[in-house]
Amino acid sequence: MTSSFISFVHKDQIIEIKNPNPNETLLNYIRTKLKKTGTKEGCAEGGCGACTVVLAELKNNEINYKAINSCITLLPTLQGKQLILVEDLISKDGTLHPVQEAMVKYHGSQCGFCTPGFVMALFSMLKKYSKFKDEIIKDSISGNLCRCTGYQPIIKAGRSLKSKNKIDHFSKNIKNTINLLKKINNKSIKIYNNDKKYFAPVYVQELKKIIKKNIDTLFLSGGTDLSLSITKERKDINSIIYMNSIRELNYIKNNNKYIEVGATTPLIDFEYYIKKYYPDFTKILKRYGSPQIRNAGTIAGNIATASPIGDCLPLLISLNAQVILQDYKKTKIVLLDNFFISYRKTVLKKGQFIHSIRIPLFEKNIFKAYKVSKRFDDDISSVCAAFNLEIIKNKIEVIRIAYGGMAAIPKRAKLCEKILLNSFINDETINKAKEALEKDFKPINDMRASGLYRIEVAKNLLEKCCVEIKQKNLIGLYA
Ligand SMILES: Cc1cc2nc3c(=O)[nH]c(=O)nc-3n(C[C@H](O)[C@H](O)[C@H](O)COP(=O)(O)OP(=O)(O)OC[C@H]3O[C@@H](n4cnc5c(N)ncnc54)[C@H](O)[C@@H]3O)c2cc1C
Ligand code: FES
Ligand code: FES
Repeated sequence: MTSSFISFVHKDQIIEIKNPNPNETLLNYIRTKLKKTGTKEGCAEGGCGACTVVLAELKNNEINYKAINSCITLLPTLQGKQLILVEDLISKDGTLHPVQEAMVKYHGSQCGFCTPGFVMALFSMLKKYSKFKDEIIKDSISGNLCRCTGYQPIIKAGRSLKSKNKIDHFSKNIKNTINLLKKINNKSIKIYNNDKKYFAPVYVQELKKIIKKNIDTLFLSGGTDLSLSITKERKDINSIIYMNSIRELNYIKNNNKYIEVGATTPLIDFEYYIKKYYPDFTKILKRYGSPQIRNAGTIAGNIATASPIGDCLPLLISLNAQVILQDYKKTKIVLLDNFFISYRKTVLKKGQFIHSIRIPLFEKNIFKAYKVSKRFDDDISSVCAAFNLEIIKNKIEVIRIAYGGMAAIPKRAKLCEKILLNSFINDETINKAKEALEKDFKPINDMRASGLYRIEVAKNLLEKCCVEIKQKNLIGLYA
């Protein structure tokens, strides 16, 4: 069924909007049409968390709650979801939600501008976890900035939450919400609003038919990059195909050779899955934006953006990942190594989309990755490095090193690899490999770092990788 109405659940009701403006942000809709002004606008670019709301979706007959940044979420993507705003937390009898009570009790608010965002980030944490350790609390609020209260009272409020607090008016009403969500689930959307078009197919076959007739249409996944062209660059996007409505592409599976990640899988799901295979990948993803960004953004979007500082890219290149591309007729498999052509340019042709990503499993290899940024949380990399090595009898038999932030595209350090390949790791080899990095890369100066600093960091990360391998006795380093 294809519809020109988007339908979503809010306050136990299904709300329908006919042909909404595909470029309108959810934040704008909440504040100007729903007239709920608890949700604030700070940065309008996903960086401060003031606009955080929670979206609930059906997954395997259960409700999955996710905090997102409404300032960079486009309104039609609300289709099939439940919208939960800060105003909705209070019970009908006026009782504050346990999260709100905790924020009051621990003095988690002063001017109050950031408070609705923190409350929603903590509410989403409460729904997702049953124990609230500091690590989880800090991660949950890492996408929220506060200028006056400071973070300690908010962390204390988070610590005071108990799993019994999960029983609230949302959990008591869950059956009704599931029934409402089932009614609006699985509907394809086609919107025509003045000169703007928006498609949200539910199946890949449908997607291909749309592409065939609309070859110039832009793909939208999490929107954590694309939506900023509307909110920051003030541009219009006239034709959009929303990919994340395609459940068929929201999967992670593996065989004994590789892991395959469907294009619409949120980064947050991948972050948990990959930990078992490549723990350093999870370590980097934990510092990727914020939970709000990772709840929406996808690896496919990260790859297609082709930013030289896209965090997944050097990691995937060093793991020799492949990208599966499709258009309405054909499927093509491309090595990620060959995917990036020049600054933000890729081999993707018009009408071609990323279907999935394959990440080889190297059982014997050592995989290490590092991100250096000005701020620890919610910041873009100055340099990101990934090392994938197989060491047999103290000798490096296989090596793939890739860096982000060192060139116009994420790139392998091929000369450095050449020095290390078939070598024993010792001071002399490390120093030669570090020198080779100067030939591999001529990084630029920009607001994040100078070229000189970047080269120095790249060398130090290589050395750090070797030292850590030694410390863990993964090899006898100074053979
Ligand atoms: C506050 C903030 C913090 C961030 N922090 C980080 C960070 O720490 N590290 C980092 O690497 N990035 C970061 N980003 C950038 C952003 O999150 C990534 O680029 C993200 O991965 C994009 O994925 P998406 O699904 O949101 O893509 P979208 O924004 O939906 O799309 C991005 C691009 O990819 C194209 N595209 C999307 N899906 C497909 C597909 N299936 N096939 C073909 N093309 C497609 C779109 O047309 C568009 O050109 C941050 C962004 C924000 C706003
Ligand atoms: S307004 Fe700052 S994250 Fe949305
Ligand atoms: S309470 Fe003022 S910004 Fe957080």
